[in-house]
Amino acid sequence: MTASLRGTRIVVSAGPTYEDIDPVRFIGNRSSGRMGFAIAAAAAQRGAQVVLVAGPVHLDTPAGVTRIDVRSAAQMQAAVLAALPADVYIGAAAVADFAPAQAAPRKLKKSGDGDGLVLELVRTPDILASVARHAPRPRLVVGFAAETHDVAHYARDKLARKQLDLVAANLVGVAGSGFESESNALTVYGAQFERALGPAPKTQLAGELLDLVAARLPRTQRDDVRVDGTLPVRTPPDRAP
Ligand code: CTP
Repeated sequence: MTASLRGTRIVVSAGPTYEDIDPVRFIGNRSSGRMGFAIAAAAAQRGAQVVLVAGPVHLDTPAGVTRIDVRSAAQMQAAVLAALPADVYIGAAAVADFAPAQAAPRKLKKSGDGDGLVLELVRTPDILASVARHAPRPRLVVGFAAETHDVAHYARDKLARKQLDLVAANLVGVAGSGFESESNALTVYGAQFERALGPAPKTQLAGELLDLVAARLPRTQRDDVRVDGTLPVRTPPDRAP
């Protein structure tokens, strides 16, 4: 049974961020954005009002989704915070952890008097943590974790440190999973909760993750309240997992 998300506003971030070094170079990563786009598509299909904040990706906008394109972590944070308040934030973006302290206004040239180049990097804003601290806070804040080892340990650490409700963790570096793959396997952690999802196509995982999200929203909120504030139309309640 598919859980309805009618009446909820969901903000999803997806894809990589690009941190500019100079007008022609940047620091990026291999995120395809597929997982976040699949979540946004599935949420819209379930009746949610969806804002998708997307880093640079080559993907079509899912039907019924409001898409905001950004490039850097700072731009992504500004767009995500501007999209609040929301009932749910799902941070599926692979946000760069570091950015050049300053983007050079002109293309960096090889100096000729040595082989190396030292770039000064600074931390980017932690979007997920800033959403979890934001007032009003989304009822559910969901993070992602990509780990190569000790998945449970690091996922639970992230859950506590960033004050999240759920963390969807995956093991990267294994075949059929991760950034550039069509499929994935996730373990979702919450306080006193653990659920393995997949391996399955990312579209299917997105639906299963949203079932866990819907089950944590009050029924009145997801079924009975319309976004535009008009009187609710009673529908048979869906059964969430
Ligand atoms: N995230 C974010 N803003 C950042 C970095 C990460 O919102 N500047 C979010 C991602 O969208 C994802 C989660 O945080 O939901 C990933 O957490 P992160 O701390 O980046 O994970 P790791 O890079 O695996 O952390 P660590 O450096 O501890 O390995």
